[in-house]
Amino acid sequence: MIRFDLLSAVPDLLHSPLNHSIIKIAREKGYAQTEVHNLRDYSADKHKKVDDYPFGGGAGMVLTPQPVFDCHDALAAQHRYDEVIFMTPDAPVFTQADANRLSLKSNIMILCGHYKGVDQRIRDEIITAEYSIGDYVLSGGELPALVVVDAVVRLIPGVIGDAESALSDSFMDDLLDAPQYTRPAEFRGLEVPEVLRSGDHKKIREWRKRLSEEKTKSIRPDLYDIYLNNQ
Ligand code: ADE
Repeated sequence: MIRFDLLSAVPDLLHSPLNHSIIKIAREKGYAQTEVHNLRDYSADKHKKVDDYPFGGGAGMVLTPQPVFDCHDALAAQHRYDEVIFMTPDAPVFTQADANRLSLKSNIMILCGHYKGVDQRIRDEIITAEYSIGDYVLSGGELPALVVVDAVVRLIPGVIGDAESALSDSFMDDLLDAPQYTRPAEFRGLEVPEVLRSGDHKKIREWRKRLSEEKTKSIRPDLYDIYLNNQ
């Protein structure tokens, strides 16, 4: 069982994705637990404020230390956290290797930043790992945190029905997936490649590998180089 504690000032952004599809299944089957914590509930401010103006000036508001430290401390008194993660664009990009590693952990806390950022003392004192989900800026860390939870939970053995499925994903072997087809065999005159209907599993494997290599080489040459180096 893996437990995620998600700290956010906009907790409603998190509820629906945690209550549908794979994450919901993982929770119902007892493989994962997700708890959402509203930082406002921990604010000592009489207006339940969780942010303030940046020292030194500048645009936007900064998440203030008090609610985050208090929420963190209350949770850390009950659970031993393997990682306390902060989602932020100024961090290394989250990869499949990170998801694989996190899927072996038991207790993960994720702080979703909002506004302009968070007080650096939070990052210095509480956070053990920081991830970006890509080189673009989102309005908060909630969607990135859900990306991490989804990528991790689906790796837990038993969560995805077909045990093969997570292991055969794109990135598992440094290559992108080959094209997939389902019925009908012909749709608006567009045919499914003959080889996939041949029943010849060796040929199908070879076809998929070739298509995976071609596709990776053309759209992700960076990944293709890694693949070649690992051969
Ligand atoms: N918060 C805002 N943008 C982000 C990004 N790209 N990755 C992670 N957290 C973020």
